[in-house]
Amino acid sequence: MMARERKDYFYRKAKSEGYRARSAYKLQQINKRFRLIRRGDAVLDLGAAPGGWLQVAKEISGDRVVGVDLLAIEPIEGVTTIKADITAADTLELVRDALGGKADVVICDAAPNLSGNWTLDHARSIDLSESALRVAREVLKPGGNFLVKVFQGDTFLDYLSEVRENFWRAQSHSPAASRKESAEMYVVGQGFFLPPVKVGDVLDLEIVGIGKSGDGVADVGGFKIFVPGAAVGEKVRVRIRSIRSGHAVGTPAD
Ligand SMILES: C[S@@+](CC[C@H](N)C(=O)[O-])C[C@H]1O[C@@H](n2cnc3c(N)ncnc32)[C@H](O)[C@@H]1O
Repeated sequence: MMARERKDYFYRKAKSEGYRARSAYKLQQINKRFRLIRRGDAVLDLGAAPGGWLQVAKEISGDRVVGVDLLAIEPIEGVTTIKADITAADTLELVRDALGGKADVVICDAAPNLSGNWTLDHARSIDLSESALRVAREVLKPGGNFLVKVFQGDTFLDYLSEVRENFWRAQSHSPAASRKESAEMYVVGQGFFLPPVKVGDVLDLEIVGIGKSGDGVADVGGFKIFVPGAAVGEKVRVRIRSIRSGHAVGTPAD
């Protein structure tokens, strides 16, 4: 199918099936593949207007769904909507109130109104995906999932590594329902965790085990820190070098 025909196909399909946007099929396809949203999940959708993703999220979860956008969203039964800017600090409070607890899944399809000025549009897109990650860190339950649209550019890999600092598994994905000519990419994060350490922290640790690759392993409240070259029983002062996929790597610091 040509890109244009594909676009028209999903547009007509969305119209006839009652979805507000053909992007609804993107979320369906992504969810089929990654099972990010499950029955009973509390879902937060950032940049949610006109509401196609909200409709799909509500169908799948059947439970609490909250949508935020700068634009007003026509009501959807059982969905709470908030008119707010996802990059503003005080939006978090509104989101927390609406969720009435933590979220199982945060999804973000936000995109700036393109001005045509590449530098400005790029900066705004990055701002949106950074904001989504910030909100996700605040509201997700441990083990929760994250889906965010990202701008493909020179900062893409940096963003992916940032996501890796908080999710067991993080990868990029380009759904089939996206128009082929667009550079649209999504980042999928699965298994949220808040690491008890930060990159650059210096800690005194005791090596309590050896990992598969032979590195010493220390434990901080159930969180593993791998220390290459350290032996069991050794006490080492370690500087945290990286955090990803549910563990950290540190090297001796003196
Ligand atoms: C591609 S649309 C989302 C479509 C939606 N997923 C659906 O299925 O209906 C992107 C949305 O991001 C919103 N947006 C852009 N910047 C925003 C911001 N700073 N805060 C909240 N929403 C924002 C826009 O208003 C727009 O409605």
